Amino acid sequence: MTELNFERHRRLRKTSYLRDMVRETKLHKEDLIYPIFVLEEEGKRNEVASMPGVYQVSLDYLLEEVQQVVDLGIRSIILFGVPKDKDDVGSEAYHDEGVVQQATRLIKKDHPELVIVADTCLCQYTSHGHCGVIEHDYVNNDRTLPLLVKTAVSQAKAGADIIAPSNMMDGFVAAIRQGLDEAGFEETPVMSYAVKYASAFYGPFRDAAHSSPQFGDRKTYQMDPANRLEAQREAKSDVDQGADFLIVKPALSYLDIMRDLKERHQQPIVAYNVSGEYSLIKAAAQNGWVNEKEIVQEKMLSMKRAGADLIITYFAKDLARWMNEEGGN
Ligand code: PBG
Repeated sequence: MTELNFERHRRLRKTSYLRDMVRETKLHKEDLIYPIFVLEEEGKRNEVASMPGVYQVSLDYLLEEVQQVVDLGIRSIILFGVPKDKDDVGSEAYHDEGVVQQATRLIKKDHPELVIVADTCLCQYTSHGHCGVIEHDYVNNDRTLPLLVKTAVSQAKAGADIIAPSNMMDGFVAAIRQGLDEAGFEETPVMSYAVKYASAFYGPFRDAAHSSPQFGDRKTYQMDPANRLEAQREAKSDVDQGADFLIVKPALSYLDIMRDLKERHQQPIVAYNVSGEYSLIKAAAQNGWVNEKEIVQEKMLSMKRAGADLIITYFAKDLARWMNEEGGN
């Protein structure tokens, strides 16, 4: 036999310690942001039917939920409000006594160090379920911007550490940045949902947040899943307007986009591992069809490998628990 010449890649896979040493990507608890749905009600802790293990909690149960998160070692949460009342212009989103504002103040009193991200959007607060003001059956961009600014400022005033606008109006980062600066919140960062696709993966979230559009869809403001270059244009605009973080949403079907953004921008990249991505795995796991822990960890690594620095995920508590059991971080 002639002498074969090849590389022995298996050398570095021989033992678990060796594999640990050469592992390129790791997930840390500091990477995780846990979403919490807050109900403007009392005495409620409802499991979301389409999201097993995820609860909508009323304000009086909120601190209990947050304590759990903190005890697990998670350092950041993102708040979604489910208000009692909705109207045409989403007034409860920018009311100083709105549900997210109340929740933020409540949490900050007990956990000043916890990083609270406030989702800045109108869809949970509008009677029509769209993310902006409606004029002639169309979401009016420029009339929506001032309402988003008011929402962001009232969230910052309540103590939110990061403002995360998710509405996909043009110019929202510029408007919110200016509004925050003028209100004295120059140091409050904007985590922009820079690239947000019109996705079927949001289905379970809309149950949880009561935010389904009552007519039409969101395709005139959220992006077409077919487009990649458009994501570059969106991200560039947000960076130019002052975004401090860039979110890609959903995560798993859009890893190519995450990688593109990571290569072109210096801002931290955030993967939003959305509700449908959670529910698909939970459902399969409940049927015993997949190993939940292994599959979730693999998915998280794939996002990090694609370039995500942070991950917003409903699995954050599960992940933290698993990390604690393994004694790692
Ligand atoms: C609304 C918003 C959505 C999500 C977060 N904020 C989606 C939408 O209804 O358009 C989805 C999150 C998820 O699915 O987990 N602006």
